[in-house]
Order: sequence, then C-alpha cells, then structure tokens
Amino acid sequence: MIKIKSPGEIDKMRKAGKLAAQLLNHINPFVKAGVSTDYLNELAVIFTKMNGAVSAPLNYRGFPKSICTSINNVVCHGIPSRTDILKNGDILNIDVTVILDGFHGDTSRTFLIGEVDKETQDFVNRTEKAMYLGIEAVKHGNYLFAVGKAIEKYVGQFGYSIVRDYTGHGIGRKFHENPQVFHHYTKANKIRLQKGMIFTVEPMIIMGKSYKVKTSPKDGWTVTTADGSLSAQFEHTILVTENGVEILTAT
Ligand code: MF3
Ligand code: CO
Ligand code: CO
Repeated sequence: MIKIKSPGEIDKMRKAGKLAAQLLNHINPFVKAGVSTDYLNELAVIFTKMNGAVSAPLNYRGFPKSICTSINNVVCHGIPSRTDILKNGDILNIDVTVILDGFHGDTSRTFLIGEVDKETQDFVNRTEKAMYLGIEAVKHGNYLFAVGKAIEKYVGQFGYSIVRDYTGHGIGRKFHENPQVFHHYTKANKIRLQKGMIFTVEPMIIMGKSYKVKTSPKDGWTVTTADGSLSAQFEHTILVTENGVEILTAT
C-alpha cells in the first residue's frame, strides 16, 4: 500500500523538506579539508534543535549519529567520526533527515573537497544529473519504473554501476514507507504513480563496473563498494503532481 498524502500532510512535508535543504545549506561552508565528519554532525545537531526539529537518523535502528557522512568508496550510512578528517581530493556525501511536526524531510548531496581530479568531478556531476533525470520521469499516471529506466539509460554510457541493495523510499510520518524506489530498471516497480504520493529519488552510483556493495562487520552500518571504487549520491524528497513533481527538498 502506498499512501496518498492529504493537503494537510503535504503542507507539513513541504516544511520538513525545506528545513532539510536548509540544513545542508547551513553545513555547506564548513565542508572542507581539515574538518572532521563529527564536527559536521555537531553542526547538524545544533541547527536541527534550534529549528524545533529532530534528527531522524539518531537511534534509527541503532544508528549512533544524527547525519550520515560517506567518504569516497563509502556508498551510504557512513558514521560521523572525530578521526575521519576530510582531505584534499575527497568526495563526501552528507545525508540529512529531519523530523518537523511529525513529518520527515530527507535529502543528500555529494561535496567535492578542495581540488578533485576531473574524472571524479565528472562522475559526481553525472550522478546529480542522473538523480534529476530520474525525478523528471515522475508524473501522475506514469509507471514508477520510469525512474530507474531513465537513470540506467544515462549512466550506462559512462560504464558506471547502479547500486541495487539500497533504494529510494516512500516517506511521511515514517522515515521509510512503501514504495521501494529502484534506481535501475525492474518490473518490481511496475506501479502506477498517483498525485499525492511522496517518495525519495536517491541514486547511489559506483564509478566501477560492479554494483556490489558490502557492509562493515565492525560497525554494522558503513556500506562500501565491493571493488573499492568511488561512489556518489544525491537525494531529493518529491511529491507526485498532475504534471510532474514538486521537489520538497529544493534549495
Ligand atoms: N537517509 C537515509 C536514506 O536516504 C537513511 C539513513 S538510515 C540511518 O534513506 F540510520 F543510517 F540514518
Ligand atoms: Co537520506
Ligand atoms: Co532517503
């Protein structure tokens, strides 16, 4: 079952989405070489609290911090740490989710630290483009699998891989609701989109040829590429409308 949000719920999702986007904007100027990912987490804690919201990741299924920070070959769910210091040439995904007035706003971006080589810059920019192409495929009456189809068609030409083990998701009062949103083409997403549905589009793209990932046995959270190659991700929370979408986490 996929929930159709009421006008009142949509209004609250707009507010939560906007705050999540503002949180990333707030952190942005501090994302640079020499800074620890735990410092960025602390900034998020303070900003979220000051705005009357709650960080969704903290204690979610036991997650120990308030944001996810995923560096280089880390695909997602990286845990902020005082010993993870950003360095020149790194790429870092920051994924934030806030709960405002009972509703979730979820968004992420991949940041370039200092001078990043051209190949990597292209990779990150194409990952963002892939997210927007997926979002543009969404419209009342279309199939949900149009998202994965559009992303696959675009990233395939570069020889990149699309992560399959983690997906976008419905979102609302709960962090993760139906449907699962696959970023590759699959009949599992042969679902008609209806206005009033809200879900995330958040492709995790791997620079190498394998889409395989593994989870750290040490912390149970950190997901890395199986082959050690780079991974990038961007995420927006979107509302399905008659003519397309409204991006709730736009800046
Ligand atoms: N924000 C992630 C998502 O986009 C989920 C993080 S779950 C956590 O779905 F527990 F790691 F925070
Ligand atoms: Co997220
Ligand atoms: Co999400």
